[in-house]
Amino acid sequence: MKRAFSGVQPSGVLHIGNYFGAIRRFTEFQDEYDCYYCIVDLHAITVYQDPEELPKAIRDTALYYLASGLDPEKVTMFAQSDVPCHAELSWMLECISTFGELSRMTQFKEKARGTESFSSGLFTYPVLMAADILLYDADVVPVGEDQKQHVELCRDIAERFNSRYGETFKIPEAIIPEYGARVKSLQDPNKKMSKSDPNPLSYISLSDSKDEIAAKVRRAVTDSGREIVYSPEDKPAIANLMTIYSLCTGLGFPEIEDEFAGKGYADFKKALIDAIIYALEPVQQKYAEYAESGMVSSILRQGAEKANQVSSQVLRRAKQSMGLSLLADPTRRKLF
Ligand code: AMP
Ligand code: TRP
Repeated sequence: MKRAFSGVQPSGVLHIGNYFGAIRRFTEFQDEYDCYYCIVDLHAITVYQDPEELPKAIRDTALYYLASGLDPEKVTMFAQSDVPCHAELSWMLECISTFGELSRMTQFKEKARGTESFSSGLFTYPVLMAADILLYDADVVPVGEDQKQHVELCRDIAERFNSRYGETFKIPEAIIPEYGARVKSLQDPNKKMSKSDPNPLSYISLSDSKDEIAAKVRRAVTDSGREIVYSPEDKPAIANLMTIYSLCTGLGFPEIEDEFAGKGYADFKKALIDAIIYALEPVQQKYAEYAESGMVSSILRQGAEKANQVSSQVLRRAKQSMGLSLLADPTRRKLF
């Protein structure tokens, strides 16, 4: 069976961009792939996280994995910090990645803009992500558009390692959705919807109530004119709202244009509110059921056990390739 690997940071709220761009798609792989879905808490701490809040966010992310339809019998879900191999391989890969290539990562450039007091972890973040993926011999990595550059870097690092130290890592491939890969902010369609946006009107969180969803959609920015047509260049705000409508209903853009021909933004927004509520309702309901069941800690514990077994074997392989760890390799032990 081929392997899939992906991760989501447990930092702040999860929004519909995370859901449509990543988490909902994770379920599409669970029948045909051996899936590892990680809650990447070591990535989250590249910026300050309140130690009281972080465990709650880890649990919350796991609950949304389950609520979105991931079956713990089929997939391995775990918290990154429960599997020590991630940090260990990350260091080894840091030693073969360069300052120059990490400086070119757009996510880093955006986050570090205007300051030098970012953590070193924020800079080396993509190397830890490469370690995550390579430790599971992943074939595919389902992510949103914003992570494509990081997966490409992972491929570069793996190829470099293989050519320097001998065939060790499988080269993974990013799977980006055709659309919905980049849900934009409701307040500024030039920016992606982001959990770090200080303005909560810019995103719809998976835990938002019906009233909050309605209020946020009503206050979402629109473009000039009044027609509902899909034209990302001329009408970026409407194109974004149409994308969200399409993700919620499964309708294509021509069908949406037909549905709202002759109608205005107010009618469209009303339908969009209903569509989002309808799409999120089952997720919110399942979230509540799983939260009450108290199953999440045992699911994460079992997931970590399996992840430790798989990743420790790949780490051992990588150490042998690099000439590290005498104990891992009996032929080297004889040298002494
Ligand atoms: P993060 O919240 O940064 O850990 O992202 C988790 C997953 O959600 C990654 O696969 C991202 O690519 C995806 N994602 C984050 N923001 C968006 C967005 N606005 N639109 C689509 N996908 C997103
Ligand atoms: N960097 C990703 C994000 O912010 C999360 C992530 C960490 C990830 N490790 C990963 C995604 C490995 C895919 C595979 O969205």
